[in-house]
Amino acid sequence: MRDLGVFAEVFPSETHASALASHASVKGVIISGGPSSVYDPGSPAIDPRLLSSGVPVLGICYGQQLMAHLLGGTVEKGDRGEYGFAQLDLATEDSLFRGVTGPQQVWMSHRDLVAAPPAGFRVLASTVTCPIAAISAPDRHLYGVQFHPEVAHTPSGLQILSNFVFDICGAVRDWDPAGQIQALEARIRESAAGRSVFFFVSGGVDSTVAYTLCLNSLGPDRVHGAYVDTGLMREGETDFVRANFAALGASRFQVEHAEPQFLAALERAIEPEQKRHIIGEEFVKVQQRILETQRFLDGRWILGQGTIYPDTIESGGSAKADLIKTHHNRVAGIQKLIDEGRVIEPLSSFYKDEVRAIGRELGLAPALLDRHPFPGPGLAIRCLCGEESGTPIKAGEGWLLPVRSVGVQGDSRTYRAALAIDDFPSELEEAAHLVNRNEAVNRVVVAVRTPPIRTMSAHPARLTRERLSRLRCADAIVRRLSHDSGFDRQIWQFPVILIPFGTADRPDSVVLRPVDSVDGMTANSVRMPAELLDRMARELSELEGVAGVFYDLTNKPPATIEWE
Ligand code: XMP
Repeated sequence: MRDLGVFAEVFPSETHASALASHASVKGVIISGGPSSVYDPGSPAIDPRLLSSGVPVLGICYGQQLMAHLLGGTVEKGDRGEYGFAQLDLATEDSLFRGVTGPQQVWMSHRDLVAAPPAGFRVLASTVTCPIAAISAPDRHLYGVQFHPEVAHTPSGLQILSNFVFDICGAVRDWDPAGQIQALEARIRESAAGRSVFFFVSGGVDSTVAYTLCLNSLGPDRVHGAYVDTGLMREGETDFVRANFAALGASRFQVEHAEPQFLAALERAIEPEQKRHIIGEEFVKVQQRILETQRFLDGRWILGQGTIYPDTIESGGSAKADLIKTHHNRVAGIQKLIDEGRVIEPLSSFYKDEVRAIGRELGLAPALLDRHPFPGPGLAIRCLCGEESGTPIKAGEGWLLPVRSVGVQGDSRTYRAALAIDDFPSELEEAAHLVNRNEAVNRVVVAVRTPPIRTMSAHPARLTRERLSRLRCADAIVRRLSHDSGFDRQIWQFPVILIPFGTADRPDSVVLRPVDSVDGMTANSVRMPAELLDRMARELSELEGVAGVFYDLTNKPPATIEWE
């Protein structure tokens, strides 16, 4: 909705119809999709009065099922479901589909479906497996679709959403995040009320934009930033952050060097969750030290944070991405500031794209605004460790590698081996089939440039300075080549992973993991041009200690983006 220029907010599904009606500006309501069945105990419900309030309502997927269920239609419980592309055939004209003609490709992801619409509803469209794929009762301003108009895989989706929001709801295009800057800065001055603002910055987009807004409204003397160098970041990161803040005119900016502290604490860590836990704990210690020794806890200071809207949506599913942040908030000093209301979060009502638009308007460098996301725990979760030696095992189509990584299968976390195959399969879905056929694995990789797999083995490995530096070099090569070729602009993120699997004199291998994604919750593996891959693999295998190069073909799910 906001991409269409219309302000929209997310509310919990149980919000009372009267609470929404009291917002004079509410022009329409969308009930979102979700993984539940309307028959599940405790599944998300809505106030039924919403459907008779006269405000236009569009139910998407679960939203359509819920609408049908509450109004006397029939929802049928599916046992297999339908996931992926489908062809939508329109049965009748309706303002929801204005400008949409002929068969349409749509994206389906559902288990249950509407088997009979409520009385008074018309069926607008169908697919082969879903006879009731869109419904409406225009006189009551109620609409529903089983497919997902909000994803890029439904090419006419934006047209359908525009029809709903402009023609049916009568909203106007008047939302422009970059136009909010003056008001945001005025609000910062007001809430700071003469005090100064202190930030822990990560060097990422959100905290830098929030910092810049404060800098502009309060001046450099009243805004302080601290960046913690954990020693787990990419090559040149600390210099990049320092240069960015210098360019902003941030005179009160400090870099806290904490590499020895982090590496000493991580010396014996092997398991992914153990690494994450230690990093969180050390971060808390550094923060507490800075807060106390520099007296930021006295009444003259408040805390600034780069929190954005998705972080504040209660039902949002990004808990994991916020792991480091959760730890920040547990720092006693920060909790005290929060309890006393001494926190400002200027970006808390904006989405990532909007934060970028604000950043552009503020004149921040594209090299900063268009960066790929990078995890807080840094290279530590891309430098795999292991306690045991092991050899690969021949498994039908390939080799089971004795290296485990994290995956997400059937909504739960798995920690399993990777399957290595010789060549890129002709079918994109082949990686998913291989994982489905093999209980022991959650990923499939191609051996792009390696010695014969049977001559390679796994060995005990830790997060040493040497291995982190090897990974940092590999990551820098990949970044340089994908930037120079323009490949980095075609993907969402490009993790480079070091695995303790190699030969006697070259103990590690590098895994390339370019993915496309919208929000990191799901992701697709992306193939890169052969020539680029060739060059990358050649340079990487010349690195000291690197035996081979693999390419991760797995989508999320069943694998995760990071290997950990
Ligand atoms: P996974 O591996 O769960 O990652 O598929 C999804 C996205 O989240 C990022 N990620 C993190 N970001 N702190 C962050 O700021 C973290 O602890 C963290 N862990 C994963 C990951 O890079 C990917 O974009």
